[in-house]
Amino acid sequence: MNLMLTYPRIVFFTGAGMSKESGVPTYRGEGGLWKEYRYQDYACQSAFENNPEAVWNFHDQRRAVTAACQPHVGHELIARLAKERQAAGRGTNGGVTVVTQNIDGMHQRAGSEIVYELHGSLWRVRCDSCCEVSHNLELPLRSRVHHCGNFLRPDIVWFGDSLSRSTLTKAVDAISRCSLFVSIGTSGAVYPAARLPLHAIESGAACIEINPESTPVSQHYQQHLRGPASVMLPQLLGL
Ligand code: OAD
Repeated sequence: MNLMLTYPRIVFFTGAGMSKESGVPTYRGEGGLWKEYRYQDYACQSAFENNPEAVWNFHDQRRAVTAACQPHVGHELIARLAKERQAAGRGTNGGVTVVTQNIDGMHQRAGSEIVYELHGSLWRVRCDSCCEVSHNLELPLRSRVHHCGNFLRPDIVWFGDSLSRSTLTKAVDAISRCSLFVSIGTSGAVYPAARLPLHAIESGAACIEINPESTPVSQHYQQHLRGPASVMLPQLLGL
């Protein structure tokens, strides 16, 4: 992992392609979730208000699929890198931060400790009436209704929702201060997340894109590793 010891602060910026080899479907491209389902029916506040049970059926199914998947070597290497760098005196968490658009919790399951989840988590539920958020791993969810009588909803960012301001602030701060920025498995199609790499580019960080395909933002990266995350991450880390 010598290459990675060169950089004081590293951000891994991940999207659905990061978890594809774990078996979690991506959103776009072949087998993409939004090819099979209309997000307007399952992933926006108005769909939830019209038919909360249908939206919960969809998310219960996603929770079941995701729970059956395991982190792959790429997730594990990112977590291991942070621990090795911390042991080598590179500061808290070895100066490694994960900023992810994924809601699957795979980075945490692999052992990553600093993970900013831009789009929330499948493993949290919230009551918008009480503003209460709780972790929940039940399969299926035992009660879709909060004790106050309102429907719980997944604590994820649906189309039209705003990102958590505090998560976004922490992500932008980490990205602006990093010296190496590695984007993995994102199409760069969804904003504001797709704009975040610009903070690394503008601050002069080395920027690497891992993706089997080129994306609308590929030209911003100095290096492209065209292949799957589970192959390209070991290669990047010299393993
Ligand atoms: P997408 O599904 O849009 O893009 C997945 C990307 O992963 C594509 O660029 C693929 O080429 C790439 N890819 C596929 N297999 C890969 C592999 N094995 N290794 C590395 N890369 C691979 O997913 P996102 O960019 O994450 O938002 O989508 C962004 C957001 O759109 C999601 O967070 C979600 C969705 O709607 C919300 O739900 C709010």
